[in-house]
This record gives sequence, structure tokens and C-alpha cells, in this order.
Amino acid sequence: MKKNLFIALEGIDGSGKSTQLKLLKEKFEQAGQKVYTTCEPTDGPTGKIIRDIFTHKMEADHRTIAALFVADRLEHILNKTNGILKMLGDGYTVITDRYYFSSYAYQSAHVDLDWVIQANSLSAGLLRPDLNIYIDITPAQSIERIRKGRSTIELYETLENLQNVRNKYFEVMDLLKGEENIFVTNGNRPPEEISNDIWTEIIKKAG
Ligand code: ADP
Ligand code: TYD
Repeated sequence: MKKNLFIALEGIDGSGKSTQLKLLKEKFEQAGQKVYTTCEPTDGPTGKIIRDIFTHKMEADHRTIAALFVADRLEHILNKTNGILKMLGDGYTVITDRYYFSSYAYQSAHVDLDWVIQANSLSAGLLRPDLNIYIDITPAQSIERIRKGRSTIELYETLENLQNVRNKYFEVMDLLKGEENIFVTNGNRPPEEISNDIWTEIIKKAG
């Protein structure tokens, strides 16, 4: 591997991002890389507010939520203690469970897509992923996995909304294909098979 990479995992809820994050971390470590894994919404103060809204502990307008994600992401990148830029500077390969494509797909249902892209342009200017990996499952598979895994359903986890989010992901991946590195993989397969596919792509890009 030539250098430490920044990789973003994307997909609708339950698509297997956390599962793939763990498998990918192992692969990088076997290849001799130091790995830092992270996620959005973050565990920082803004991320906590977002999680409270998602679990219905407090309410906020969708436009407020869109702006909170912008702030949470900037702090995720810039935090001096364990921000992504700091960790990359320290030689870690960084893998994040969600990044700005999540905002493009989820927030553009409520706020104009151009606004969401513009509002995230500071983040994109600071740090574009070496690879955005989109794990594709259908909304029906998503709901089935979420129901199996836990008892509560979060704000955006309805079949209709997930269908809309999936469509938005494909729309915006097409729109930004000129400036972003994107790999789409079929998430309805055994986790190891998906992971091998992702690894092959990473080696192709950076090996
Ligand atoms: P996400 O982080 O995208 O929400 P998770 O990795 O937490 O997704 O997976 C959601 C659920 O689906 C978990 O119960 C997990 O065990 C299961 N799961 C993950 N990957 C697969 C897969 N490839 N096939 C079937 N089930 C999976
Ligand atoms: P997450 O904890 O990754 O949920 P899951 O593991 O079920 O995929 O994300 C929580 C929710 O936050 C999820 O419904 C997607 C949403 N989200 C946005 O709406 N915009 C964003 O920019 C991000 C990062 C997440």
C-alpha cells in the first residue's frame, strides 16, 4: 500500500456498513497499516444533539438537522485531538461509517440538493475520500435487518423514506462521478464476499 487512505462507507440504514468497516479494518491491518475507524453522526457535542433528535428525545426541523450535520462533519474533520485530518497526519488509514454522501442522500429529501452540496463544500474542500464505497441493499432488506437487530425505529427508517434515500444516493453519485471516487457493491451477499470485493477495489486504486 502506497500511503494511508481515507475511506467512507455509505449506504442506507442496515446496509452492512459497520460489518464491512470491521472486516476492512482487519484487511488493512494485515497489510501492515495502522487503522482508525470512526462514524457520523460523531460522538462529539453536535453528534449527540443529532442522535437525540433521531431517537425522538428532542425535536428539530429538517433544515436544522441538515445544518447540524454540516457542523458535526467539520468538527469530525478538524478536531485537533482525534479529527480525521489529525489521524491521517499521524499515519493512520481512516475509515468512516458515513460522510457527506449521507447528507446528500438523506437531507436532500427535505432541503434542496444544491444547498446540501454547497453547505458541505468546506468539508469536500478540506478532505475528499480516496474512495466512497456504497453498499447497496433494497429498502425492504434494510427494514428486515433493522427489525431483526433492534426494537426501536429511528427518524428516517421507513420503507418509503429509505426508497427515496436510495434513489437520491444513485442520483448524486451520478451527478458527482466526475469529482468523486465511488465504488458500488451489492450488499445482499455474504459479508466476506462483499469485503473481498471492496478490498480488490482498494488494491486496484492504491495497491
Ligand atoms: P449498518 O452499519 O449499515 O447499519 P450493520 O453492519 O450494523 O449495518 O448491519 C445491520 C444488520 O444486518 C446486522 O444485524 C448485521 O449483522 C446484518 N448484516 C450485515 N451485513 C450483512 C450481510 N452481508 N448479509 C446479511 N446480513 C448482514
Ligand atoms: P447511523 O448511526 O449510521 O445509522 P445506521 O447504522 O442505521 O445506518 O446513522 C444514523 C442516521 O443518521 C441514519 O438514519 C442516517 C442519518 N444521517 C443523515 O441523515 N445525514 C448524514 O449526513 C449522516 C452522516 C447520517
